[in-house]
Amino acid sequence: MRVNLTVNGSAEAVDDVWEGESLLYMLRERMGLPGSKNACEQGECGSCTVYLDGVPVCACLVAAGQAEGRAVVTVEGLAEGPPGGERLDPVQEAFVEAGAVQCGFCTPGLIVQSHDLLARNPAPSDAEIREALAGNLCRCTGYEKILDAVRLAARRGATS
Ligand code: FES
Ligand code: FES
Repeated sequence: MRVNLTVNGSAEAVDDVWEGESLLYMLRERMGLPGSKNACEQGECGSCTVYLDGVPVCACLVAAGQAEGRAVVTVEGLAEGPPGGERLDPVQEAFVEAGAVQCGFCTPGLIVQSHDLLARNPAPSDAEIREALAGNLCRCTGYEKILDAVRLAARRGATS
């Protein structure tokens, strides 16, 4: 089947999508957007988090066909400039500067989730950050650097 959707601001038509295919598979394997990661494919880790109509979702749990007519933003789309732009979003920048990236597998999902948190709540408490990121698992960092990154982005007014 064909799926028509907007991805990172561009109207796209994707052909040959099969009915059981996930949005994550379509983004990564058919659209050349490998930023969203496939770690568990079961909705457990959050590494595949993307915005769907402005709401963070696990792309591995969304059927590609469900994205018909909708707007998806991936971690690539947060960078400024043209899609896949070179200038990092302030949340992306804060993750790099705070040393919150080790293997990087969890990072795209954490960045999208943190971006959403700061858009809703520009000055979150530590408890609010932990709650917002509770569905995003990281096996490397021990989470402290991730908290530092979100605090840093918040101090800088990441989404203002
Ligand atoms: S790959 Fe989607 S939640 Fe883990
Ligand atoms: S940096 Fe490796 S899983 Fe988070």
